[in-house]
Amino acid sequence: MNIILLGPPGAGKGTQARHLVDTRDMIQLSTGDMLRAARTSGTEMGQKVAEIMDSGKLVTDEIVIGLIEEQLTTQSGSGFIFDGFPRTLAQADALAALLTKLGQSLHTVIEIRVDDEALVQRISGRFTCGDCGEVYHDKTKPTSVDGKCDNCGSTNMVRRADDNADSLRTRLMEYYKKTSPLIGYYYAKGDLRPLNGLADISEVTASVEAILG
Ligand code: AP5
Repeated sequence: MNIILLGPPGAGKGTQARHLVDTRDMIQLSTGDMLRAARTSGTEMGQKVAEIMDSGKLVTDEIVIGLIEEQLTTQSGSGFIFDGFPRTLAQADALAALLTKLGQSLHTVIEIRVDDEALVQRISGRFTCGDCGEVYHDKTKPTSVDGKCDNCGSTNMVRRADDNADSLRTRLMEYYKKTSPLIGYYYAKGDLRPLNGLADISEVTASVEAILG
């Protein structure tokens, strides 16, 4: 079962993807995580995308499609969760072609709907475990012990460079200009399943489970 989690920055795509990885043995393909890993490993591509990511703009289709193709052809499991990909119509077409080439298909596209004000709150309070990637929030999902990851016990908590007001404005603009047309695209294909992303994390998880069956 291959699914797309579609939604604006801070909608909760990564949070829900991690739940599906834990409970369904699915593989999370987050292009944001892949690009951040490329940055920290200091590759030429990582250096090229660092400035673009910090500004909140989208990196080129060519780069992200290449990253996804590499993962699709080298990994296997109980299905892929596309988190933060596709983000443009060109990426959506490329994904369809890649899946067809591999004899696979797309099960569903879950659109997580959240209003802009809530997104700002979520992004400004987010922090992540630098070791295992668990996602937290100052108010809605704090760690049980201050500064210590509930999942792996690490105290290496990080905040993203692009989680600031200026960059968020650009990320939202990029979303509305380039990614939101995908809502109509997948609706027309009959693949789109919207849900209320403003609910509590556990309620959103229940909605995702209900869609996936
Ligand atoms: P990426 O890493 O994909 O960032 P994003 O899309 O902006 O999404 P986020 O990771 O910020 O949010 P999320 O929806 O995963 O929310 P989360 O679960 O963390 O991309 C970063 C950059 O990389 C892009 O700007 C671009 O430059 C580049 N890039 C990546 N992919 C690309 C592509 N395909 N093409 C081109 N460029 C690409 O939740 C957010 C917070 O809210 C957390 O603190 C969480 O605890 C909390 N929260 C979650 N759900 C709830 C809830 N229901 N109620 C209350 N709080 C909640």
